[in-house]
Amino acid sequence: MVDYVSEKAKEIQPSATLAVNRRARQLQQEGKEIINLSVGEPDFDTPGVIKEACQAALKAGFTKYTDSSGILELRQAICEKLERENGLDYSPEQIVVSNGAKHSLFNIMMAILNPGEEVIIPAPYWVSYPEMVKLAGGKPVICSRNERFTANLDHLRELITPRTKAFILNSPANPTGVVYTQKELEDLTEILLSHKILCISDEIYEHIVFDGIKAVSIASLNKEIKERCVVVNGFSKTFSMTGWRLGYLAAPKAIAAAVANIQSQTASNPVSFVQKAALVALKYQKNLYRPMVEEFSRRREFLLKNLPEVIFYPRPDGAFYFFLSLGKVASPEMADYLLQKYYLAVVPGRDFGADHFIRISFATSLENLRKAVERLSEAVNNLP
Ligand SMILES: Cc1ncc(COP(=O)(O)O)c(C=O)c1O
Repeated sequence: MVDYVSEKAKEIQPSATLAVNRRARQLQQEGKEIINLSVGEPDFDTPGVIKEACQAALKAGFTKYTDSSGILELRQAICEKLERENGLDYSPEQIVVSNGAKHSLFNIMMAILNPGEEVIIPAPYWVSYPEMVKLAGGKPVICSRNERFTANLDHLRELITPRTKAFILNSPANPTGVVYTQKELEDLTEILLSHKILCISDEIYEHIVFDGIKAVSIASLNKEIKERCVVVNGFSKTFSMTGWRLGYLAAPKAIAAAVANIQSQTASNPVSFVQKAALVALKYQKNLYRPMVEEFSRRREFLLKNLPEVIFYPRPDGAFYFFLSLGKVASPEMADYLLQKYYLAVVPGRDFGADHFIRISFATSLENLRKAVERLSEAVNNLP
């Protein structure tokens, strides 16, 4: 039998969350009451005004191909958003709208990487970064963390080689919820600038922040770093629009043009009527996501107060995850133990480049979180 599957495709790891969900579903079908803490999306419906805008666009027949980088009106609105909220000055030709931030991130890897070029990724990282780098022919290089769970800058300096092309920054971060401070961004900027390394800044959790903390875009620090930055953002998390598939990037002109070319030859445009809905999301911004963030904040407070003291975790200042260390058991076994014995679905930390941790999401009701805390307390008391 001819093996038609490429080496590249064979190297890619399947999504860890999907595997957990599959097992959780099996147990559910057997009648077990599973609490699913593995979810990576807000448990809120998309705001009504966004849905209505989509329906109106459909009714009006806005159903054809659009500019493959996204309609000009939306790219202009994104420029205004970047100016207003991040103090960043971009023109519409520097914006490429794609089918989700994930798509934007993959496009950027395709646009910048020559075979064997290296991308430095601080661990713990979002599971898809290394796989995307590999698919685009590059080499992921993993940087260790410091005690705050941000990048260990001494290690970063050691990892830089003539093949280093880019660094991936994710703040607020998945899976830890950690938000880089201004000082941390300044120190990182200094290193990236001195080695002319491109910074890919994934800001998808920008608005899901707590205790008055603001997630600063590294691109806003100074003109020099902005010229070496690709800012990635999207609508999935802020507006609870995960299924709609809409994200974007803002980049220096030559990079944006390369991404636009790649997208025009592969995906064409993001969905036409979703782009119209996104205009409304950007218009109402805060009013739409504030109630969701307030609810996330209540749940986070509950977990901060009630998670058993023996469980160690970095304090999440953003996103909707806790990254927990329950002891010395490796994370896949720990996730298995929690699922089989306590009916808690969690994601093993190994997939985020951090064994001995598990990721739980608080994108679920307070009632579920109460039960989850009870089960976790019992689980840590009875650890094998
Ligand atoms: C850190 C991070 N970046 C990007 C994405 C992808 O978002 P989108 O739905 O816009 O593709 C996710 C989704 O889980 C994420 O956690």
